[in-house]
Parts: sequence; C-alpha cells; structure tokens
Amino acid sequence: MNISSEFIKDGISPLQRKKFGNEFQWGVSVSAYQIEGAHDKDGKGLSIWDVFTNKKGKVFNNQNGNIACDFYHRSSDDLQLIQQLSIPNFRFSISWPRILPQGTGQVNAMGIAYYDRLIDECLSLGIEPWVTLYHWDLPHALELKGGWTNRDIVSWFVDFVAICVQQYGDKVKNWMVLNEPMVFTGAGYFLGVHAPGRRGMSNFLPAAHHAVLAMAEGARTIRAICPQANIGTTFSCSHIEPYSNKEKDILAAKRVDALLNRLFIEPTLGLGYPTQDLPALRKIEKYILANDDKLMKFDFDFIGIQNYTREIVKHSYFTPYLRASIVKATKRKVPTTLMNWEVYPSSIYHILKKYDAYEGIKKIYITENGAAFTDYANDDGSVEDHHRKEFLQNYLKELLKAKEEGVKVEGYFIWTLKDNFEWAEGFHPRFGIIYVDFKTQQRTIKASGWWYKEFLEETNRME
Ligand code: GAL
Repeated sequence: MNISSEFIKDGISPLQRKKFGNEFQWGVSVSAYQIEGAHDKDGKGLSIWDVFTNKKGKVFNNQNGNIACDFYHRSSDDLQLIQQLSIPNFRFSISWPRILPQGTGQVNAMGIAYYDRLIDECLSLGIEPWVTLYHWDLPHALELKGGWTNRDIVSWFVDFVAICVQQYGDKVKNWMVLNEPMVFTGAGYFLGVHAPGRRGMSNFLPAAHHAVLAMAEGARTIRAICPQANIGTTFSCSHIEPYSNKEKDILAAKRVDALLNRLFIEPTLGLGYPTQDLPALRKIEKYILANDDKLMKFDFDFIGIQNYTREIVKHSYFTPYLRASIVKATKRKVPTTLMNWEVYPSSIYHILKKYDAYEGIKKIYITENGAAFTDYANDDGSVEDHHRKEFLQNYLKELLKAKEEGVKVEGYFIWTLKDNFEWAEGFHPRFGIIYVDFKTQQRTIKASGWWYKEFLEETNRME
C-alpha cells in the first residue's frame, strides 16, 4: 500500500508541525553501546555486551559494538548533523562502565570528561540533551556478582546515578532512569538472547523486581540532587490484540499485555505487580521485602513510551508460564519492517490511550519510534528510504489523533539518528534517518532525515 496516497485519500493534508503545538518536544534517540564503539578506550571497563558479543553465535554474523558508528570519536561531527537537520532534542545514554569501569568504586576521569564535552557541545549547538542512565550496558564486573539478580544492584546503580547527576545536573535538565526494563530483563535474563544471556524465571523474577526498585530509587536520587529536573523512565510497549473472540485467546492476550505493558509501570504507580492477570508472576513475591511496596513507587514527571508495532496473541498450551503465543506478522501476511514487526500505525494511538488512562501519569513522551528497512546508498549519494518516511508520518498522524483527543503526549523522538548496532541482530537492520557506511564510517542523510528537517523547520517558515 502506498501510504502517502492514503493520506490524500483521507483528505488529510501533509503532517504539519504546528498542529502538535509549540511546547511539543521533537527529537532523536540513540544509545551508548549501539553507537559509541571505543569499547576499550580511555579507561572504559567491559560491559555485559562486550562479553556477550564475544561469545560465538549470540549475535548475527558474530558482530559486535567494538567500533559501531565510532561515535566516541565522531560525536562532534554527528552533533553537527543533528543541528543541520534542525532537531532540537538529542536523547543518548551514558555508558556505566565508561564512568565506573568496575561498576562501583574508582571513577574514570576520561569517561566523565567525554560526556561533559558531549553535553557542552550539544548546548553550544542549541541541542537539548536528554540523558538515559541505563540503556543495557551493565558493567561486566557487576554481572559477575549476579547483575540484576542481585539486590545490591539497587545501591550500585544509585551510586552511579548520583555521580552522573552531580557531574552533569547543572547542564542536563531531562533524565530517563532506565531504558525498557521489560526488554533487558526479558531478553537478557529470561530468554538469554541478549546480554548477559541468562535464562529462566529464577533469573528473570529477581532481575525484574530489582529493576523496578532501581527505577524508583534512581529517580529519587536525581530528585534529591536536582529538585528541578524533568525525571522520567522509558517502557517498551506494544498494542496487544487477541487472535479471536474466544475466551481463551482473550485471556491469553491479557496475560501478554500484563507482561509486556503493565509489569513495570504499575508498581511504579503504586498498583503492585499485575499478578491477577498473569499468575505466573506470583513467585516474584519471594523477592519483595517488607518496605518494598513504598520503595517501588515514584511520581515521575513523565514516562517515555517506545512503540514500534502491535502483537496478535493466541492461547498456547505449549508455552510455559504464559500459555500464550504471538502470531507472527510474517504468518499474518501484513506489511512488516526488516525486524519482521508489523507496520501498524494505530498501535501508537492505542498505546497512548492506554497509558494516558492511568491515574498518576503526568506527561508522556514517545521516546522511541521508527523502523528498520533495507536501505542502500545510490551512486549519486542519495538514500531513498521513502518507506521509512511514510512509516514515521503515519505513526505521527496517529499520535496527533490521540493528542487531539486530549492524551497528554508532549514529545516524539525518532529511533534513531543513524544506522547502528541493533543488538542480537547486528548491523543489518538499519533504523537510522542517517545512513552509515560501516566500512568507511561515512554518513549520508537519508530521504527520511531530509523530510524530518523540512517538517521541523515548518514552524519557523510559518511564523
Ligand atoms: C528498543 C531499544 C533500542 C533499539 C530499538 C529498535 O527496544 O531501546 O535500543 O534497539 O528497540 O529495536
């Protein structure tokens, strides 16, 4: 389907920035391990991803982030590109082992200096930094002590957060505590397909509970050091629908929704874990100590929603714990991205409505949305990724619909600035609005990037 022509057919004029309002925040997101490279430079310690990618067969073609986009050495040039595209907000993460090579203890002055420069350069270019404190690159030294399964991680993490906020808090106003706790605990500690590659409920449940505690304690630490900071945390969310109207599929969809969309937000809001709809979670109680109900709560200024797709769910006797399975988009013969995720723009609308309905959520930013496709650079240097452009416009159209219905959505960040290391998938799914030739490190702005620039500059032209 040609999505642009659908726009015209609907009688909807091309998306206009001004419809989102002047306060709406526009940005682009990245994460440290996926772009920085320099994995052993200037005193950085090993992260669990450095170790995981070294194990054969864990990542597509045994690729790793040792060099990635070499952002560590090319940050100035990449920030210039952000400025060239008129993108006002840049979301990036701080690598914990670059600041604390052993996870705790000795601080690495060169790591501190690197992010200090990065933040200063953002500010001098008029780009607002949005900092994520944990985007999955746990110091390996801490994984050797149990990583997220060890309750001590809450105090290890809080110490790291305090160092960052004391260091950069006078310059950084917007902080996100964790990136997608469901993904790093689910893929990393239950399925074993992400670092550190552990499996099973006995790893997943304590990791999940400690992530919930770290999320709130980390936020309290920021608040204590910088009372004025805009504090959030980000969640992966997919709109869930049952495969049929049969009760067993409806219940299966509820279980998956509880796991993917509710497990981490609800304890934060003081609602506890969604064990009623997902009985397999009950064993998490084993890890909950006396005062934890209070410690799990935090009144976030905003939550970051990261949405890419929807999932269709059906009952399955064969899936342990969940008794549910996802009906793959490829089987449903629907349009997909290179990740085999369904292109389903109204997913973002439904998810926004769902989260907006929670009492206690003050403000929502879409901190990630985007798509991977097979992109290539033409001989004339252009990258014609019109499919991505259409994808972004159609999701934004759905976001706008939710906003116009009163949903408190105040910002949107594209995933991602440039093609990078896509975790277990390696380098082949290209998500960027800037193309990266990984042999030469040359950057080329894609058609989607030029579109974003034009879109963002519209207000200036119209005022
Ligand atoms: C998110 C993650 C990002 C990026 C993106 C695309 O789950 O936060 O790091 O990989 O998905 O898959």
